[in-house]
Amino acid sequence: MIDIHCHPLPGVDDGAISFDVAVAMCKMAGKDGTTCLVATPHCNYKYAFDPKTNRAKLQELQAAVGETPKLLLGCDFHLSYDNIQKLTADGSNFTINHSSYLLVEFGEHFVPEQMDNVFYEIEVAGFIPILTHPERNPTIQAKPELLFHWATRGCLVQVTAKSYLGGFGSKAQALSEEWLDRNLIHFFASDAHDLVRRPPGLSACYEKVAAAKGKETADLLFEKNPSAVVNGEPFPPAPQPLGPRRAPKKKSWFSFLRG
Ligand SMILES: [Fe+2]
Repeated sequence: MIDIHCHPLPGVDDGAISFDVAVAMCKMAGKDGTTCLVATPHCNYKYAFDPKTNRAKLQELQAAVGETPKLLLGCDFHLSYDNIQKLTADGSNFTINHSSYLLVEFGEHFVPEQMDNVFYEIEVAGFIPILTHPERNPTIQAKPELLFHWATRGCLVQVTAKSYLGGFGSKAQALSEEWLDRNLIHFFASDAHDLVRRPPGLSACYEKVAAAKGKETADLLFEKNPSAVVNGEPFPPAPQPLGPRRAPKKKSWFSFLRG
């Protein structure tokens, strides 16, 4: 399995609090079956993003961890005006393994207006946005059809494994299950930050997806799709996103009378 969203680099954001924790997180992921892990430090108003520092820390971490999992760099890219400017100037610092694929996150409680324009700008600049954990965002929880709207306009969707397993509450879990049924999810990732509260590991989620949707779907979401991303390849054919389920129409008294 390939994990495209994780925070193991120590001292760069709110992820691993020490080098030892970072090593233990990577080893935990490897033991759980993750063969490739993308370190995606935050880039927002709170945490500066320094590609040179990140590269050095990644190298040091890989040397301590050994060959597996293979560690790559990306960015948990916060959608803000400043960041979009940086992206158009030199985006490959932020994309996953210098590909065209870019993780994008909204603020915790906020979805910018004119999101269609922002995604459009990102795509025109040559990047493919991967929206991170929309199931955990209260604004999208209140208006879940936004996701269908964006997914049908070229935005890829990453859901947090722990959400699908119920660890982020019933709303996030119900949305993850519904969106999986409607082919709106392209990846599950750990978004791991530590060893206890938000640990790495995808196998429990893989098993649940395989049980619900079959092994082929699980392999697509945990292996094939993320493999295209880390290798900078075209995205594999995806099943057609399905629109919202409509409640069956209630029969009126007239229709009963007419038979
Ligand atoms: Fe993250």
